[in-house]
Amino acid sequence: MSKLNMNNEIKIIEQRLEEALISKDQILEDASYHLFSSGGKRVRPAFVILSSQFGEEINEDVYRVAVALELIHMATLVHDDVIDKSDKRRGSLTIAKKWDQDTAILTGNFLLAVGLEHISNIEDNRVHKVISSAIVEVCMGELYQFQDQFNAHQTITNYLRRIKRKTALLIQLSTEVGAIASHADTKTVRNLKMIGHYIGMSFQIVDDILDFTSTEKKLGKPVGSDLMNGHLTLPVLLEMRKNPEFKSQIEQLGPNSDQSLFDKCIQTVKHSDVIKQSQAISDRYLDKALHLIDQLEKDDAKPIFKKIIKKVGKRNV
Ligand code: IPE
Ligand code: IPE
Ligand code: MG
Ligand code: MG
Repeated sequence: MSKLNMNNEIKIIEQRLEEALISKDQILEDASYHLFSSGGKRVRPAFVILSSQFGEEINEDVYRVAVALELIHMATLVHDDVIDKSDKRRGSLTIAKKWDQDTAILTGNFLLAVGLEHISNIEDNRVHKVISSAIVEVCMGELYQFQDQFNAHQTITNYLRRIKRKTALLIQLSTEVGAIASHADTKTVRNLKMIGHYIGMSFQIVDDILDFTSTEKKLGKPVGSDLMNGHLTLPVLLEMRKNPEFKSQIEQLGPNSDQSLFDKCIQTVKHSDVIKQSQAISDRYLDKALHLIDQLEKDDAKPIFKKIIKKVGKRNV
């Protein structure tokens, strides 16, 4: 197998993504191109490619899956922004803000459909089964998140279950389906699936930490957006456990609370040791992934996989 060049692979995928967005309808094309061109780390395609290294080799199906999963991810982002009424995504205006809400909903559907079309001629039925059931689970995750907005009585277990559905599953899909598409054996597919699960859990925890600790410029949206949307994430839930005053402040928050109340809570979390604690929990998931990578066969592909995972765990965007 020739040496994997991730930059080249991502370029190939970006090119295919751009082609996939061409539509007879100019608005759908423009709106989806707007999201595509505003950036994104392309994490899911990267994990498809990396996982395919543990099968036979990169083939057409691997690329199709990589493109499809990024399109499905983009669809969930567009719909997530509608639910959260967000104005900004990846540093640019959201589709609802630049066009309108109906356009955003339809663009999300368009992206999902184009993603599915991309994998329609893959013969291995496992691919279709796992992808459709993951989409159902992501919907449930988003729904539970919506139902739990400003719910100060939720537990850390609720949180972990929610992020498993809304984020870890799609990353788990990329490692699992990446392995299936490159004809890896059953045991390798199962291991890579677990690796994706652990990476995904860590990934969302880091995302939730960055929502407090990063800057508006890096995040591409205001700091503290999660809390302002009523999403109580790991740092908040940990702080509530040890700080009764903070807990009662959170209990009083609602969608129409004064910005100063939100700011006060955001500052508390930002300067608390719960940030470090959350990072440690994220690192524990990453360690589990790294440990499982060691157990895979094909030593050649391990170092780059590990390097990229560590980078993702320490990312600041
Ligand atoms: C954002 O995903 C939503 C989460 C699941 C955390 P990414 O952080 O992968 O978003 P982009 O694609 O790089 O913008
Ligand atoms: C979104 O997670 C996960 C999806 C299913 C889209 P977040 O709500 O944390 O994503 P951001 O922070 O808006 O990117
Ligand atoms: Mg969101
Ligand atoms: Mg987030």
